[in-house]
Amino acid sequence: MNIVLLGAPGAGKGTQAQKLVEEFGLAHISTGDLLRAAVKAQSELGLQAKAYMDAGKLVPDQLVINLVKERLQADDAKAGFILDGFPRNTAQAVTLDSELAAMERNLDAALLVDVKPDVIVKRLSSRRTCRSCGYTAPAGVDVCPRCGGEMYQRDDDKPETIQKRLDVYQTQTAPLIEYYRGHSILKEVDGDRPVDEVYADVRALLTA
Ligand code: AP5
Repeated sequence: MNIVLLGAPGAGKGTQAQKLVEEFGLAHISTGDLLRAAVKAQSELGLQAKAYMDAGKLVPDQLVINLVKERLQADDAKAGFILDGFPRNTAQAVTLDSELAAMERNLDAALLVDVKPDVIVKRLSSRRTCRSCGYTAPAGVDVCPRCGGEMYQRDDDKPETIQKRLDVYQTQTAPLIEYYRGHSILKEVDGDRPVDEVYADVRALLTA
């Protein structure tokens, strides 16, 4: 199963991806997590990406595309993958299609987790993320339930940056909904319900 997860910042893409990974053993390819790891490691890529991320803007396409290409070649992605946070604009989507075609692979579904902006702002303001493994949970969880790492608030989960990220989503990423509808692989789920209810629908849609 090869899946793209679509949805606004904070819609619950990462949360649903974690559950799909646990059940189906897919490789979780989150460009946000890969970029945050590069920032933490202070690599050349991380140094270039940090200012864009802190401002809530998209990191330049070529930097992100190179990361994804490399990650798709890894052994754990051969049995199936979840792309979380990629593609983010039409140029990235077109590049992904040609990369997958060159690998003789294809996407089975583009799953939209749909949540309204007012819910998103509340969720992101109270989100905590594990410094070690990227696991996410609401505020109040201080120790990562997956790896025991420290939970912290992401720099871009501040109110003014959240609004910028939502604007970027509307102008650059939301057009991908029609892109994937045109490819007849779009599936949609209402993400404004308890996590397990959302997942039950996600599971049903992907295994139908
Ligand atoms: P990225 O890390 O991809 O952030 P994002 O898309 O903004 O997504 P989030 O991780 O914020 O949200 P999510 O949908 O995964 O929600 P989550 O499950 O955590 O990108 C960060 C930055 O990196 C970008 O701004 C950009 O600069 C750069 N970048 C990344 N990819 C790029 C690309 N392809 N091109 C260029 N630049 C790129 O849930 C949020 C919270 O809600 C959590 O606390 C969770 O516990 C809670 N929650 C989840 N589901 C529910 C539910 N059903 N009910 C109640 N609470 C819930």
